[in-house]
Amino acid sequence: MHADDLSRRKFLKVSGAATLGAAAISTGMIRCATPTATDPEHGTFTFDISDAQFSGLTVVGGSAYCVLTNPDFPAIVIRTGQNELKAFSSKCTHQQCKINLPQNGISVCPCHQSRFDTSGAIISGPASNQPAYTASLSGTTLTITA
Ligand code: FES
Repeated sequence: MHADDLSRRKFLKVSGAATLGAAAISTGMIRCATPTATDPEHGTFTFDISDAQFSGLTVVGGSAYCVLTNPDFPAIVIRTGQNELKAFSSKCTHQQCKINLPQNGISVCPCHQSRFDTSGAIISGPASNQPAYTASLSGTTLTITA
């Protein structure tokens, strides 16, 4: 074996290890940089409720659908007070039908008639409690954290 062969082998070994190390670091950095990529249903979302589609939220007792990430299952947002809002998923926990906006503070799932209060808690099944979100209002900016 020549000295050139030995130094080439040594070089390939070292550069291969460096490449693997860089790939591992790179993968870790991608995960850290996009923490919501594996869970796109979660995050913080803002809406301008002066937009006509959110007109239901301008009055206490009113409600509106707000699309977070899935247009088929928007969040149900209910204005329960001058500065208080409730929000929860419209995707029914029973068999994933879209829950209706509330009437007199009660939301009904059209598939099997489960009923929910303004925070998504179950009143009558077969569904269980809906995943609740936090919602706040600052001026006309609605912020939902899912
Ligand atoms: S899917 Fe909502 S009650 Fe069955």
